[in-house]
Amino acid sequence: MFLRFLFFKNHTMTNFSKHNFKGEKALVRVDFNVPLDENFHITDDNRMTATIPTIKKILGDGGSVILMSHFGRPKSGPENKFSLKHLVKHLHGLLNPTNTEAEGDFAGTKVFFADDCIGEQATSQAADLKPGEVLLLENLRFYKEEEKGDEAFAEKLSKLGDVYVNDAFGTAHRAHASTAVIAKYFDAGKKMFGLVMEGEVKSAEKVLHQAEKPFCAIIGGAKVSDKILIIENLLERATDIIIGGGMAYTFIKAKGGKIGNSLCEDDRLDTALDILEKAKQKNVSIHLPETSIIADKFAAEANTRDCPSDQVPDGWMGLDIGEKAVGIFSEIIGKSKTILWNGPMGVFEMEKFENGTKKIALAVAESTSNGAFSLVGGGDSVAAVNKFDLAEKVSYVSTGGGAMLEYFEGKVLPGIAAISE
Ligand code: 3PG
Ligand code: MG
Repeated sequence: MFLRFLFFKNHTMTNFSKHNFKGEKALVRVDFNVPLDENFHITDDNRMTATIPTIKKILGDGGSVILMSHFGRPKSGPENKFSLKHLVKHLHGLLNPTNTEAEGDFAGTKVFFADDCIGEQATSQAADLKPGEVLLLENLRFYKEEEKGDEAFAEKLSKLGDVYVNDAFGTAHRAHASTAVIAKYFDAGKKMFGLVMEGEVKSAEKVLHQAEKPFCAIIGGAKVSDKILIIENLLERATDIIIGGGMAYTFIKAKGGKIGNSLCEDDRLDTALDILEKAKQKNVSIHLPETSIIADKFAAEANTRDCPSDQVPDGWMGLDIGEKAVGIFSEIIGKSKTILWNGPMGVFEMEKFENGTKKIALAVAESTSNGAFSLVGGGDSVAAVNKFDLAEKVSYVSTGGGAMLEYFEGKVLPGIAAISE
């Protein structure tokens, strides 16, 4: 109910696209919490590329952009491996795609870096910023005040810009200084969602409240305990719920199946039965994988076979859905008009166990091309659609992991509430 209310209010909120940023310094909260390898190379830049249209719109209007983000979970103060300076070059490249190496890092749209997110230096760098220029502030979480939602810290940040744009959907479930508290230091016409946030909220609302039926939710991943709340919320909305990944074996064992050494949360067997019972009452079909690809060890070179999921021999474990399950799941997905996918079907990082997730990704892509609306979210399922090169073939790929999950659990996200209120 409350989400409906928020959605309704969105229409009355300050609209980012209609706002003219000319001469303004926009303080934009982004989620640049991207994975890096040991050489500080970005291994997945989705969250950065997603924000480029927001940044470009502000620059195009004749405004300047001050970007703030957290990066990782630093424990106490600055640490090189958590510095956002490692992202500057890549950000510059994204903003200047035609720029050649020879022109140098700072040709085209200029991207500056501030070694701190508050203080004298950051303040003067922000003040000196000219229209068309970008300043990236150092990791907000180098201050413990960020996660504490400290008001004085939020107020200091707020002074850096004339207008606050929250585009950090990935962090919208955190009630931190820069994601929520800061909003109160800006007048109603000077705080708004950016395009990422708008797109995320719009797609999530479409699935939660305007889903065309049949609506199929595909839920995977290792643990039932992580997904109980989302499943319960989906029982009120979905037509079919497909359950894959490690969590399926807790359900299968609860129903009396033999799961060998498959992943299982023994303290959740009753929860699993309870979910199955509720689904029956609500007329929602829950689909468990009838067959599994089982392995004699958790390893890329394990011996494997395809067997009924409730007859896994001792010493073996299910690491992917089997061929028959792929067929049944694909058929349901093919008939759906709305598809929500969170969590992989198996250990898709290993080639022997990628087939289930890959075929499900293909089924989602095909159903989308036949007119279904599909939303994929959660770190692993997004990594999967990227791995199989299908990100362009689904309707929407969420930049949120935990945030997306909480949204679909029906929670009000502090980052969204702070602006909607
Ligand atoms: C994420 O990657 O889930 C977001 O950036 C939030 O990060 P956090 O879980 O460390 O708060
Ligand atoms: Mg997280």
